[in-house]
Amino acid sequence: MCGIFGCVIKDGQAVRLITDGLKRLEYRGYDSIGVATIVDGGLHVRKDKGKLEEVVEGLRINEMEGTIGMGHTRWATHGAPSRVNAHPHIDGSGNIALIHNGVIENYMELKDELIEKGHIFVSRTDTEVIPHLIEEELTSDIGMKGAILRVLRRLKGSYAVVVLSTHEPDRVYCARHESPLVIGVSDNGAFCASDVPAMLPYTNQVSYLRNGEMAVLTLDGYEVVKVIDGSLVERNLEEITWSLEMAEKQGYTHFMLKEIYEQPESLRDGLRLQEQYLNLLTQFLDRGKDVFLTAAGTSYHSCLAASYIFSKLSRLTTIPVVSSEFIERYGSTVGIDSVVLAVSQSGETYDTLKAIDHARMRAATVLGITNTVGSTLTRVSRAYLIQQSGPEIGVAATKTFTSQVIVLSQMALRLAKQKGKLSQDELDEFEEKLTLIPSWVEDTIQSNSGYIEALAEKYQDDKLFLFLGRGISAATALEGRLKLLEITYVPSLAYPAGESKHGPISVIEDGVACIFICPRGDTHPNIIGSIMEMKARGARIISICEEGDEEVKRLSDDFIEMPRGIPEELSPVPYVVPLQLLAYHLAVLKELDPDMPRNLAKSVTVP
Ligand code: AGP
Ligand code: GLU
Repeated sequence: MCGIFGCVIKDGQAVRLITDGLKRLEYRGYDSIGVATIVDGGLHVRKDKGKLEEVVEGLRINEMEGTIGMGHTRWATHGAPSRVNAHPHIDGSGNIALIHNGVIENYMELKDELIEKGHIFVSRTDTEVIPHLIEEELTSDIGMKGAILRVLRRLKGSYAVVVLSTHEPDRVYCARHESPLVIGVSDNGAFCASDVPAMLPYTNQVSYLRNGEMAVLTLDGYEVVKVIDGSLVERNLEEITWSLEMAEKQGYTHFMLKEIYEQPESLRDGLRLQEQYLNLLTQFLDRGKDVFLTAAGTSYHSCLAASYIFSKLSRLTTIPVVSSEFIERYGSTVGIDSVVLAVSQSGETYDTLKAIDHARMRAATVLGITNTVGSTLTRVSRAYLIQQSGPEIGVAATKTFTSQVIVLSQMALRLAKQKGKLSQDELDEFEEKLTLIPSWVEDTIQSNSGYIEALAEKYQDDKLFLFLGRGISAATALEGRLKLLEITYVPSLAYPAGESKHGPISVIEDGVACIFICPRGDTHPNIIGSIMEMKARGARIISICEEGDEEVKRLSDDFIEMPRGIPEELSPVPYVVPLQLLAYHLAVLKELDPDMPRNLAKSVTVP
């Protein structure tokens, strides 16, 4: 999610390397920073909300002494950005400090257990339970290594953690599960960081920890062990030849591509929602006489997709509406019995905030889904969910779209359970399919990325694209079109395929590229008809269909085969990935910068 840096060095001031390292991780986005060092057996922590330079200067962090330390840039998921929620977090004794990237799914039960034992917590974060757990384990006469391993085995969720302790002031412990962590060694000492750029100026001899591994760093080097049983892992270092600029993107040419490839990880975190908030939001939804889903751009497409899922799964009618039109269309009808669910990655989109301000003025219940803790949307919502996608640097939304749909799907499932609208078998099957989404996305990327790059080359001179889908795939079509439009600037249309004969089919002539999204499901027979309708008029057909769908493949000039078994209601998440990749590769072929498309900003905070 965010930035981590730790080191133990022979010569120099650890904190200088730490703040420089954190600076090279700034591109990942953050809301708070903090540093801890050990000097003369004492633990020193300085941290606050705010930009790196401001906090470093304000707290005089570069004056901190010590040759061992760690630093953290936070992207809040639990607890708003604030000094008390910033990392490092310490235990009750003040001898153990820890920084963390990721989401601890079972932190509430762990926190309750620790409070029972008399531990006192000061922050609202999930992270703070970890140093207290280590403190608890230490009393059973095992050293830091054993205590940390025991604690890590109890954590559910994602973590990259670094631990310092005055009990063992000469070593840095670091471990990972799903959140990235890399270690490095030089003649002057040993390092760990969430990403190579942080340590490149000090060493290019690195090793990426694997899931479920812990490293112990000392001036003599490093040791890697398995969390599960503490067994030693033989791990050689590899030489990094990237430039710093390349390293910031983990070797990807653009942040957008990196973020497309990050989706399996961000989706796994999106499936780790806080139960109590999921229940709270769905209870509000259930009470609404009318339920509006309002957002802008890609976030609106998430809402559109969700309207199909809420209808099919929860038997709940929802009204998706672009936030800039909300007041005009529903400003006079929204009222005290209404629920307005606003979706916004940034939580700062002017149109969306304006829409919900109006809804609140009309006494409606406003709920929020956002990626940004502490954003305006979280402050004005009656209740909100954090989608936990991690920072998204590319202007074009990719992983935040798929995370939003997966969060909304979980709300629809929870509501279906509350309303008893589905059989237990249906509920169990949908829940099981939800957990498969990240791996389906992983498979889609791995098996199709090369082919999609070739497809982009084939269609790079096309001047018009149509994106067509039926049912929920109409939302996927709109999102795929927006990706292409916003980063390649190529004119393109997207609409429910059934609409073609009501006008848009007039643009079809020989060779016009029609991209059809055709998952298996209720709409499959009708999409076949739509494909034939376009084909008969000379269109070139590009289909995204299930593996082995011979009927669609036979009608297509090109096709992308998706993993089998993806339910139509969840299809926007995996089926949008080929469209994200196609748009990305077309932009690169046109020598455009997909990360910073012309005329666009990552967050539109103006009218
Ligand atoms: C999508 O790729 C664009 N970045 C844009 O449409 C974006 O989705 C829209 O501005 C809404 O942003 P939000 O989710 O932060 O509210
Ligand atoms: N979940 C932790 C928090 O909210 C860590 C967030 C991060 O990865 O920066 O503080």
